[in-house]
Amino acid sequence: MTEQKDTLKPLQVGVVGCGAMATGQHIPNIIKNPRLKLKWLCDINTQMLSEKAKQYGVLHTTTNYSDVLNDTEIDFVVLATTHSLRGQFISEAAEKKKGVYVEKPMAVNSREIGDILKAVRKSGIPFCVGHNRRSSPAVKDALAVLQKYEANPKIPSWRLDRNSWLRPQIPEENHCQVLIRINDDILTWKPWSFEDGMILNEMAHFIDLANLFMGVREPVNIYVMGSSRTDFTILIGYNDGSLATLAHSGCGTLDYPKELIEITYKGAMIAVDHSMEVRVSGIEGEPFRRTYPSPDTRVRTDKKGIEAFYESARQTIQERTKQHNNEIFIGFPEKGHYAHLDQFAQCVRGLAPSPCDVLSGAKVTMMVLKAIESCKLGLPVRFGPDEYQILSL
Ligand SMILES: NC(=O)c1ccc[n+]([C@@H]2O[C@H](COP(=O)([O-])OP(=O)(O)OC[C@H]3O[C@@H](n4cnc5c(N)ncnc54)[C@H](O)[C@@H]3O)[C@@H](O)[C@H]2O)c1
Repeated sequence: MTEQKDTLKPLQVGVVGCGAMATGQHIPNIIKNPRLKLKWLCDINTQMLSEKAKQYGVLHTTTNYSDVLNDTEIDFVVLATTHSLRGQFISEAAEKKKGVYVEKPMAVNSREIGDILKAVRKSGIPFCVGHNRRSSPAVKDALAVLQKYEANPKIPSWRLDRNSWLRPQIPEENHCQVLIRINDDILTWKPWSFEDGMILNEMAHFIDLANLFMGVREPVNIYVMGSSRTDFTILIGYNDGSLATLAHSGCGTLDYPKELIEITYKGAMIAVDHSMEVRVSGIEGEPFRRTYPSPDTRVRTDKKGIEAFYESARQTIQERTKQHNNEIFIGFPEKGHYAHLDQFAQCVRGLAPSPCDVLSGAKVTMMVLKAIESCKLGLPVRFGPDEYQILSL
């Protein structure tokens, strides 16, 4: 990833919640970013707090997040606690005019979504939800390919058209179908992720991606079959009849690519394979395969794309079998964490839009809640006027 020269004074940042996400991504990414200066670390776990402060050389620490929000020098705060802390923190940050980058899920119920929307809109604070996958280079390229094709969908000359002029135009010809398959391994999850389940913990990322690829289409109904803890399929209907299918399994294995997105639209297929490669078929002039390196410097391979992933999986298995260590997989793909936070820094300076603003975050979170409702009822639920009324708060 390229770090541009930046002549402006670095923004002062605090991190609240110093667990796996903060120490795996946000803290190192803030330290690496010349636009940012890490001033505060906050965690209720005092042992973790002092260890991390020492490790990263951070002088200001606290177990009380209000200390961070009361610091007049702080420009924005990254909220990386579990979802047990959201609305109350964001309202207080809004009162004190601090920007907020909040990890997903943005909220846990519709009242909290409404409160966050009102607080952010009324105060005008810079705000971003950590749906970082939309900032990964692979997703950005796939979206750009789709949008270019949507603007000028030219049927390739080799495509068989049995009926040519006899064929009636049908509405389905304008549909976009999005399929997202998540292959996850239950053994790797933290205890708290079982409490509220993976629809709440994880699916905001993928619902956000489905909405992104659907563009101007609006969700109208959601149907989930399975258990909201894991092993479910979410079906989202959009207002023109387009469908997104999000299939989640916890019975999988992480030595196989975790996330596959397939988008079909007007005779084209765009696939994003584990953020490591994008494949395009049916669109003339587009390369079949684009590859994206892992940001993990431990990867030792000349292979590219999904082959590089298999090679790094092989290396992980070899290392673990030798050492019985419990680290995450070598070759973690580029999921856009750095770029998402970097664009938010530019947003705080007033130089760029938020990479995921409060309305997109609120809509996705509302869809997550509707998915949980559908799962409980065993029935499709409408995403309609009641939800849009909350989103208009
Ligand atoms: N964007 C992504 O790719 C991604 C990946 C993993 C997790 N997440 C999200 O990040 C968040 C954190 O996940 P994690 O895996 O780091 O969890 P974690 O349990 O490892 O860390 C959470 C930390 O927050 C601290 N904490 C809890 N309440 C606090 C409070 N009131 N004040 C200060 N600190 C408090 C805990 O002590 C803990 O250290 C979750 O919302 C999760 O869904 C996002």
